[in-house]
Amino acid sequence: MEAGADDVERAAEAALRPKRLADFVGQEVVREQLSLVLEAARSRGTPPDHVLLSGPPGLGKTTLAMIIAHEVEGALRLTSGPAIQHAGDLAAILSSLQEHDVLFIDEIHRLARPVEEMLYLAMEDYRVDVVVGKGPGATSIPLTLPAFTVVGATTRAGLLPAPLRDRFGFTGHLEFYNPGELERVLRRSAGLLGASLHDDAARELASRSRGTPRIANRLLRRVQDFAQVRGTGELDLAAAHGALSVFEVDELGLDRLDRAVLDALCRRFGGGPVGLSTLAMTVGEEPETVETVAEPFLVREGLVVRTPRGRAATAAAYQHLGLAQPGDATLFD
Ligand SMILES: Nc1ncnc2c1ncn2[C@@H]1O[C@H](COP(=O)(O)OP(=O)(O)OP(=O)(O)O)[C@@H](O)[C@H]1O
Ligand SMILES: [Mg+2]
Repeated sequence: MEAGADDVERAAEAALRPKRLADFVGQEVVREQLSLVLEAARSRGTPPDHVLLSGPPGLGKTTLAMIIAHEVEGALRLTSGPAIQHAGDLAAILSSLQEHDVLFIDEIHRLARPVEEMLYLAMEDYRVDVVVGKGPGATSIPLTLPAFTVVGATTRAGLLPAPLRDRFGFTGHLEFYNPGELERVLRRSAGLLGASLHDDAARELASRSRGTPRIANRLLRRVQDFAQVRGTGELDLAAAHGALSVFEVDELGLDRLDRAVLDALCRRFGGGPVGLSTLAMTVGEEPETVETVAEPFLVREGLVVRTPRGRAATAAAYQHLGLAQPGDATLFD
């Protein structure tokens, strides 16, 4: 199961999204930092500093943006880097903002350059220059904006140009969740779905969710399906195992793409190192998808390492695939 979300998924997710910081499971570091930023802003009576959230898909960036808007009692405006094509689009959004609004810009690393430049000015000075007319007769009219907060989300913080990164007062790095935290996510979600999830089933699902709440919630719904159609209706260990096997989630929680990447690395490239774009082409995906969706978890599990010459498989990768290690290769641990 991949970590990206489609439309049906989004509707199901909305129902399970925590609305307050107190209901947001795990991420202790980011939660404490954020609650401090929000609390201080509240006591000053000003909107909080701009917030940048980075981390792999499905860890809670959008959820946190919604929580921030909720906590500051501002309206949330949602947009994304690719959706704002021209500076004029951003100017239109900015000029409609009201005091305390939260402007959420998803995939902020994909903003076009002129849009970025307008955003710098808006974030720093609460000002936007609206250009009226074209050519030599064009005039630029400065417009003062109400104090608002930008929340940017990115799966690739490294791609953000420094001037943009610097305009965020606070950057939260979301980490993969540990199994204990995912168990709490699962219990909370089961409660909201009105389902009773057995303890051993929760433990099993948590360990197979790739450190990702979105995947945990998705697996939970598949277990519900399985229990309803082929099981006793109970979300027990048997239903969990049944669903995990039908949906081909392996012991580490790796999905099709993860396994394809590992498989290509080990079988096609003798363990690597191999360049990202070659690897991506072999598994039929965009380099960005391999880098942001599959790689972070494989690296964190110690199956893949990033080297200056490319990606390489570790001994654990061979072991996980049940393959013999090539005798002549230098493997990374
Ligand atoms: N800390 C958490 N506690 C409980 N549920 C969570 C938590 N983080 C995420 N979730 C759940 O996981 C789902 C995905 O979270 P979210 O949409 O915020 O991820 P994201 O980081 O924005 O992903 P993407 O990069 O794909 O946009 C949501 O439905 C939310 O309910
Ligand atoms: Mg999101």
